[in-house]
Amino acid sequence: MYSEKVMEHFNHPRNVGEIEHPSGVGTVGNAKCGDIMRMYLDIDDDGRIQDVKFKTFGCGAAVATSSMATELVKGRTVQEALLVTNKAVMEALDGLPPLKVHCSLLAEEAIHAALWDYAQKNNVVIEGLEKPVSDIAEKE
Ligand code: FES
Repeated sequence: MYSEKVMEHFNHPRNVGEIEHPSGVGTVGNAKCGDIMRMYLDIDDDGRIQDVKFKTFGCGAAVATSSMATELVKGRTVQEALLVTNKAVMEALDGLPPLKVHCSLLAEEAIHAALWDYAQKNNVVIEGLEKPVSDIAEKE
């Protein structure tokens, strides 16, 4: 049912944890399943993502998609990070079962929420970025 890549990222998720003073942090939740994902970004003065960490209180597909999403945004500029859509994450994982597609949406939204937080704090405009509706952050 799950691809080898999904299982690999589920069993050995990359970039799990927190960043102490993040440039941006985003927390999103899925109202249906109750799963929660938090994404931390460390962004340098050139707008490039130097480090990224995540914590997921959720299903295996959410863990695997967050892990892959962090790999895909690391080293990218904030603008490029917007291209890391749930579709891109799913493709990189060789697909997800249809019932699990919403889990990959959580990863995309967590990145967007963290980018939104960064943009707000730094008065930066990231073209095409909107505040995710599932943003449930209590600001730290
Ligand atoms: Fe909720 Fe996967 S079942 S994120």
